[in-house]
Amino acid sequence: MIIYQLLKINHRVKNHRIKFFGLWLLNLLNKRTLSVYFDPVLACNLRCKMCYFTDKEYTLHLKGIIPRENLGFYANALFKNALKLQIGCGAEPTLYKDITKIIQLGKHYGIPYISLTTNGNLLTQESIRDYSNAGLNEFTISLHGVIKESYEFFMGKGNYGKFFSNLLLISDEKKKNPKLKLRINYTFNKDNFLELENFFDVFKDISIDILQLRPIQKIGNTEYQNTNLDSLKDVYLSLLEKIKVIAKEKNIILLSSGSLYPRSSSNQNYLTPYTYCYVSPNYCWREDFNYTKETFSQWSERTHWKSKIFSAILKNKKDLEKDTGTEKLNYSVDIN
Ligand SMILES: C[S@@+](CC[C@H](N)C(=O)[O-])C[C@H]1O[C@@H](n2cnc3c(N)ncnc32)[C@H](O)[C@@H]1O
Ligand code: SF4
Repeated sequence: MIIYQLLKINHRVKNHRIKFFGLWLLNLLNKRTLSVYFDPVLACNLRCKMCYFTDKEYTLHLKGIIPRENLGFYANALFKNALKLQIGCGAEPTLYKDITKIIQLGKHYGIPYISLTTNGNLLTQESIRDYSNAGLNEFTISLHGVIKESYEFFMGKGNYGKFFSNLLLISDEKKKNPKLKLRINYTFNKDNFLELENFFDVFKDISIDILQLRPIQKIGNTEYQNTNLDSLKDVYLSLLEKIKVIAKEKNIILLSSGSLYPRSSSNQNYLTPYTYCYVSPNYCWREDFNYTKETFSQWSERTHWKSKIFSAILKNKKDLEKDTGTEKLNYSVDIN
């Protein structure tokens, strides 16, 4: 799982100048540097209470779908330079009929790691098999409650039975395709965190490879607004420690943060503005990037991208923080 090894290296290398030098070199050689986050459709079947899909104002602007015939343009423009393709970022990708085609294009252009981030409710035995056969490397399934009551409370319209049986189907598919991984993203708040105590019992029959523990963040005027995690301060690190021990025993990669709140001084994210590539029906990489007319490497030449990265090597941390914008959590990657 090269992508998690790279994440670990990124976490370990503290010197931002070394990171930027590496990125500059990769760009110079026209290698893969982008993490492409691909939202083919801006809609969702669920209404999770922590998510902006419960913010009526926000969802008014969330619409659009990428026509199937345009997929080839995006792939041609970006995929040759993509290190990772994540299908599903800000909406629900399984509402899109041509996920298999996106995965096939990703494979065609040799992307080393292709992941699908989904609430999992609309998956079927057939779609799981199709995605796996097309070359999907990872299902990332989002979870907001370990037990049925809190799952269905926090994941409005979500069906725990359906979700759980799909996890079993993915676990079965993994036996046929050992390259396929299953990641769980647990987004926690002060009301669902302690349930993690029972996580490994409840999911004992599910073949999990990666577990991410992700604290709630304020992302709009959502139905559940309680983003204050102060009440967890005394229990957070002790429960995290227990989870780390079990994850290690079970050979599960754990992505977690030592702090409950984002810190702006996290140097892990300085590269993000230079590597994070968002694609949706309304946006692709940069405002001045026309994916139907140019490729990333042509855009790079036109905009002197390599020089910009080179100048980042010389920037101090304060300036890089301004580039990074929003504060991010510094996730540690625990791999055996
Ligand atoms: C917006 S969803 C889109 C992809 C897909 N629909 C899913 O749920 O996996 C992406 C991730 O955001 C997380 N998320 C939702 N609300 C959040 C919040 N308030 N703070 C942090 N993460 C949140 C979800 O748990 C999910 O893992
Ligand atoms: S977290 Fe994902 S599944 Fe839940 S409402 Fe948001 S986009 Fe939909």
